Amino acid sequence: MEQSHNKRSKKRRRENIKGAIGDQKKHRDETKTTTGLHIPSIVKVTNELSNVDFLELSSEFPEFKEEWEKLKSRQKEKSRQQSSSSSFGSNVDFHFNLALSRAILDKYFQLNLKSLPEGYLCPPIPNRLNYVLWMKQLLKESSSTEYFTKPRPIFRKGVDLGTGASCIYPLLLSTDTFTDGQEWKFIGTDIDEKAIQSAKENIVANGLETIIKVVKVLPTPDGGGSRTLIRNDEDTIITTPINTAMMEGSQFCNQIDFFLTNPPFYSTDNEATNVRSGDDRERTSMTSNESVYPGGEIGFALDMIYDSYRYQDKCTWFSLMLSKKSSLRFLQKEVEKILGLGRGSVRIAEFSQGQMVRWGLAWTFLSPCITSPAMQMEGGVCFQVKVETNDKDAAVAEVSARIKVFAKELKFLCLKCEEVSSSEILLSEQKQDVQDTRKDFEAQTTVCLMLKTSLSIKDDYTFVDVYPQLFSSRHDTAKLQKLEAMLVGEVQRSNRRWKRLQKKNEVK
Ligand SMILES: C[S@@+](CC[C@H](N)C(=O)[O-])C[C@H]1O[C@@H](n2cnc3c(N)ncnc32)[C@H](O)[C@@H]1O
Repeated sequence: MEQSHNKRSKKRRRENIKGAIGDQKKHRDETKTTTGLHIPSIVKVTNELSNVDFLELSSEFPEFKEEWEKLKSRQKEKSRQQSSSSSFGSNVDFHFNLALSRAILDKYFQLNLKSLPEGYLCPPIPNRLNYVLWMKQLLKESSSTEYFTKPRPIFRKGVDLGTGASCIYPLLLSTDTFTDGQEWKFIGTDIDEKAIQSAKENIVANGLETIIKVVKVLPTPDGGGSRTLIRNDEDTIITTPINTAMMEGSQFCNQIDFFLTNPPFYSTDNEATNVRSGDDRERTSMTSNESVYPGGEIGFALDMIYDSYRYQDKCTWFSLMLSKKSSLRFLQKEVEKILGLGRGSVRIAEFSQGQMVRWGLAWTFLSPCITSPAMQMEGGVCFQVKVETNDKDAAVAEVSARIKVFAKELKFLCLKCEEVSSSEILLSEQKQDVQDTRKDFEAQTTVCLMLKTSLSIKDDYTFVDVYPQLFSSRHDTAKLQKLEAMLVGEVQRSNRRWKRLQKKNEVK
């Protein structure tokens, strides 16, 4: 395999895989969430690899041809036995998956998946590539002033938590598809000795020893991480995935661009080995380490979310792939809690490849700028206020004053109004004595609204753009939407009350 791989790579021209990352504005999630700056949109990420031609692959890769033939015979035999057609999917086995992944990696990336012990997870390449393409896009954004107020440079260092026996993410990340020919370094961590050994073999087989390092880390204790916010480095550090990566690669992780991971899905071995409902397929071939984590993928995500708070200055993007959409909303809210108001940005992606759909969740502690394309929410209430002056400061002061009056007179919520800067106002529900809303992680302050302004002047008027951000850990969407609508009407002076007043004044 290795020899033929090398020969082929020399002869073959690099194939260019096209990925598609949806336009954030166009692919909105139907369920409107209540946050503004936190970007509730779902971007669809897909790539051309789902259209791989099996016939073409089998003409180039004998191992694939053989496994495909075997699969077809199994399918035929099963159909004959059960006197009805047996599906392609239910006849896929470890060896077919491996041959397919090997062929795709070789053909499109000149990568050699030399080692993958039987019973270990064989990565579907199109799905893994989607995550890599998405990460590339996230980094493009976090290093651009178009998206973030203080963009971070790209340090060209990434960490894969739970890299597995294939080492698939670091392998893909080290190709030009991600690096664009730049020099990157990656660390992959894992708790599984055999997976580490196999990952190392794959690194060597591709001559990537100077680019990828894999490290064995301690497993997470049965109860999972502390799942509370810790910034103080002296506190006890539980051996959760981010913490162990930071310990083992402390120098490397001093400033990294991202953490990415495909975490174990299940919370118990039992759950992981249950036969799938709906067909007679076994669950994907996986070891216990690969499939089980305290609290399942939600537990893994919570550990990452809470740990990310500690390392917010050291890493630009924290991210993970999720198997269930239902996990997303809950986790998104958890991320919003730790980011706090007005800071950070959350991104969600749908990795869709054939029938397989997975979800990406990423967050950064960098603050997005209000003019960022990702901020332009469809259906959001970014609104413009026309003020009769050509003095910018006076216009902002006028809008601020209107917001303050609105907050004071609002009946159904008791709002406290703080002027954070001349262009930023924070409204928070007055509850218990919360000293600093922005730092108050537990978000006892349950409704907050942040407004930023940008200006344009035309004739004798100044147009002030207002971008509200609604955040609530307690109130439902309906209440927040009502608040949104009232805010626009009052500040813009476009509601019925203001129209009546205007009419009255005209009559006078
Ligand atoms: C679902 S597999 C993903 C493997 C590979 N990244 C992929 O996408 O195909 C999850 C991996 O996480 C590893 N793992 C489980 N707990 C971990 C922990 N606390 N720290 C690091 N890795 C862990 C497992 O051994 C396994 O290799």
